[in-house]
Amino acid sequence: MKLTRFVLAAAIAAACGSALAADPITQRQDVFKDYKKTFGTMGDMVKGKTPYDKAEFAKLAAHMEVISKQPWQYFTPGTDKGKTGAKAEIWSKGAEWKQEISKHEAATAELAKVAATGDLAAIKPAFGKVGQTCKSCHDTFRKPD
Ligand code: HEC
Repeated sequence: MKLTRFVLAAAIAAACGSALAADPITQRQDVFKDYKKTFGTMGDMVKGKTPYDKAEFAKLAAHMEVISKQPWQYFTPGTDKGKTGAKAEIWSKGAEWKQEISKHEAATAELAKVAATGDLAAIKPAFGKVGQTCKSCHDTFRKPD
């Protein structure tokens, strides 16, 4: 039954939150695209480019905390080749890579906590700290555009 197979495939794709058989490079890049959108929207509020909305900001910060745990599983061996900005150092400097990830996850969790209070004066430095972890990791492990 073609239809049944289609429905099943759609259900699996929905459960995975991504297309079937997507390669790990695309999967991690998709998470980083979500990072860009989410963190960018938050940045606009922090900088006052858009009005600060406490509930919306807290929601975005909570989402950041969730996705901050997601890209790393897709850095599987051999995926330094192909259409990727990932440097081979990810695999040769594993300890340093893991450290960048844990700094990033900790800063993101802290930002979500502070965002829930709605105290913009405290949110600004917490936001900046997360941004530093993006930069710090990119400086070492991501190829320049
Ligand atoms: C622990 C390391 C690390 C951290 C932390 C990190 N990134 Fe990245 N990021 C990478 C690597 C590696 C790539 C390249 C992925 C690829 O092309 O396979 C990347 C790619 C990206 C991309 C390009 C995605 C695309 O379209 O191909 C964006 C945008 C991005 N990161 C944003 C962010 C933001 C914003 C943060 C912080 C909130 C962040 N990253 C934190 C390592 C990191």
